[in-house]
Amino acid sequence: MSRTVIHGGLVVTASDEIHADVLIEGGRVIALAAHGSDVAEGWTGRRIDASGKYVIPGGVDAHTHMEMPFGGTYASDTFETGTLAAAWGGTTTIVDFAIQSKGGSLKAGLDAWHEKAEGKCAIDYGFHMIMSDVNASSLKEMDQLVSAGVTSFKLFTAYPGVFLSDDGQILRAMQQAGSNGGLVMTHAENGLAIDVLVEQALARGERDPRYHGEVRKALLEAEATHRVIKLSQVAGAPLYVVHVSAEEAVAEIARARDEGHPVFGETCPQYLFLSTDNLAEPGFEGAKYVCSTPLRPKEHQAALWRGLRTNDLQVVSTDHCPFCFNGQKEMGRDDFSKIPNGMPGVENRMDLLHQAVVDGHIGLRRWIEIACATPARMFGLYPKKGTIAPGSDADIVLYDPHAEQTISAATHHMNVDYSAYEGKRLTGRVETVISRGVTVIDNHAYVGHAGHGTYLPRGICQFAH
Ligand code: URP
Ligand code: ZN
Ligand code: ZN
Repeated sequence: MSRTVIHGGLVVTASDEIHADVLIEGGRVIALAAHGSDVAEGWTGRRIDASGKYVIPGGVDAHTHMEMPFGGTYASDTFETGTLAAAWGGTTTIVDFAIQSKGGSLKAGLDAWHEKAEGKCAIDYGFHMIMSDVNASSLKEMDQLVSAGVTSFKLFTAYPGVFLSDDGQILRAMQQAGSNGGLVMTHAENGLAIDVLVEQALARGERDPRYHGEVRKALLEAEATHRVIKLSQVAGAPLYVVHVSAEEAVAEIARARDEGHPVFGETCPQYLFLSTDNLAEPGFEGAKYVCSTPLRPKEHQAALWRGLRTNDLQVVSTDHCPFCFNGQKEMGRDDFSKIPNGMPGVENRMDLLHQAVVDGHIGLRRWIEIACATPARMFGLYPKKGTIAPGSDADIVLYDPHAEQTISAATHHMNVDYSAYEGKRLTGRVETVISRGVTVIDNHAYVGHAGHGTYLPRGICQFAH
């Protein structure tokens, strides 16, 4: 059985910062030992010097869309390219969204996503299920999926005719989840009202990407967030609201939590670091930043950071859904509503959140909590993933907190022709990445392979039941 010791580093988890050596055997963490102790010194096998480095759990990105079909095209990262890019950025687990097609079963959707991912991934992966057709049969199927380790279900109040479920369908899915241990995730924006505003904007000749942000109003995110929270209370089920971007939506989640309801919120780096100023970039450049929920005016960022500090928001995922500027985003050059929705980011999340530590928005352990430990607990993967503890998978990142880097499409590994953070200078950089004891990134060199990553059947949410 292969053995490794990572010695001399500062081990940072959601709960501790300790100077310790990490002993690994056969893909799992065996023990943490005091620096220089006999057990660490005598540990046979590979020795990795982590002096001056953080030793952190591999990132858990609970919201990705590899190869997602959207608006007549597909997200440009495959499971192969997307998980490789994730590894470069210090993420060792993704949870991607399988999609039920209209008229199709949950099982057919899940089988299709297994086929896309199997044998392709550089890191471990699990699936959520997007429900686009809630009916008696798909509701029943939810029970089977929970038993099989797909324990979370995304429902949309947006995208009429594509993904939208009505309030009755959402309530039924929540009731089912309430009885089977599943977790309903919601994309909360009032899609029917947004479509009216889209039509009116286009009729006024407002066609450029800036209007994507204007029609998808913060109030319509807040209204839908309020509505799904109330539905979850009626159903007696927990709720996880994805990609929260508006201050008013954070307030709805905070209020529900203050009242004692099991409501959870996720935000994404794009809402923390980018704004409507990007959507307004001239020459159709704003299309690079079209995603839903949309980027908001800068003033919303303070509420998101505050929510992350106060635990009104618990998770930062990427919603990685890349579309190339050339050929894909361009589909909406004359009509913002035809720009495929989504942005790249799976490679940048851990670094951007470390920058947030450097900038004083969050503390060091909170970085690990929102990027590793809490997503793992939220989606039934903890303590296998999300921490460094005896028995955990040896998914470990050596992170150099002093290295400087500049984000660029010229150097990133995501299969997309632009970076949303082009030219952004960051302090901190991933140096080495280990997945289940196997080195994937070795001192800034990729040494992994497609197919190393295995499928992760998940348990139920560890906060809600
Ligand atoms: O714009 C986005 N977020 N695209 C991906 C699909 C979704 O709604 O999460
Ligand atoms: Zn969504
Ligand atoms: Zn998404």
